[in-house]
Amino acid sequence: MSLLKKALLGSIAPILLSGMLLAQVASVSASDGQTSYAKYTADNELLRPVNYREWVFIGASVTPNDLNDGSPAFPEFHNVYIDPASWAHWQKTGKFRNGTVIVKELVSVGSTAAPSGKGYFPGEFNGIAAMVKDSKRFADRPENWAFFGFASYEAKNGNIQADESCSSCHKANAAEDMIFTQYYPVLRDGKPGK
Ligand code: HEC
Repeated sequence: MSLLKKALLGSIAPILLSGMLLAQVASVSASDGQTSYAKYTADNELLRPVNYREWVFIGASVTPNDLNDGSPAFPEFHNVYIDPASWAHWQKTGKFRNGTVIVKELVSVGSTAAPSGKGYFPGEFNGIAAMVKDSKRFADRPENWAFFGFASYEAKNGNIQADESCSSCHKANAAEDMIFTQYYPVLRDGKPGK
């Protein structure tokens, strides 16, 4: 093989490979034909998103047990990620596109003192929740967002939650399109024309 051919192959192979990898995680699954990271079972349950820790990390609110009578709705750290295609769209338009997936991963408080001082320090993973926007699949949901709860941290699929359990609070209190952008400086900073 000539050197030129080798060099060409060398530069194309990684592109092909990354294309194939991307195809495994993002496929055409939003109902309007857009690429989405959301995948569903036949009965509309959301398959637990994969590799979300490699998405864009937008924030980490914490509702510690000790400030919430031992039982906050979502204990304790909430590590929140948005899929990369929807992040790119947000940076361009300042909107959450059809197919947006937002995952909130819960992590316990492991300790309240560290060499850096007193505070709240992450312990173990203990749950996930997710939101997906889709104007056709979730046409009947407020602002077309479906909220998914996962029965346990290990659960493979998440169930759509009733509006009164989730979306009503988001609709009443979230700053922008059901998302609490007031708590995500990363989203605010990434918005065009901010
Ligand atoms: C009483 C109000 C309330 C209810 C009910 C509620 N949430 Fe939230 N949710 C919040 C707030 C406030 C935040 C942002 C700060 C935080 O994480 O504590 C949030 C954040 C989220 C996020 C990250 C994206 C965002 O909008 O900030 C997801 C995903 C989420 N909630 C899913 C759910 C699901 C699923 C349910 C129902 C099982 C639910 N929420 C019920 C108040 C609520």
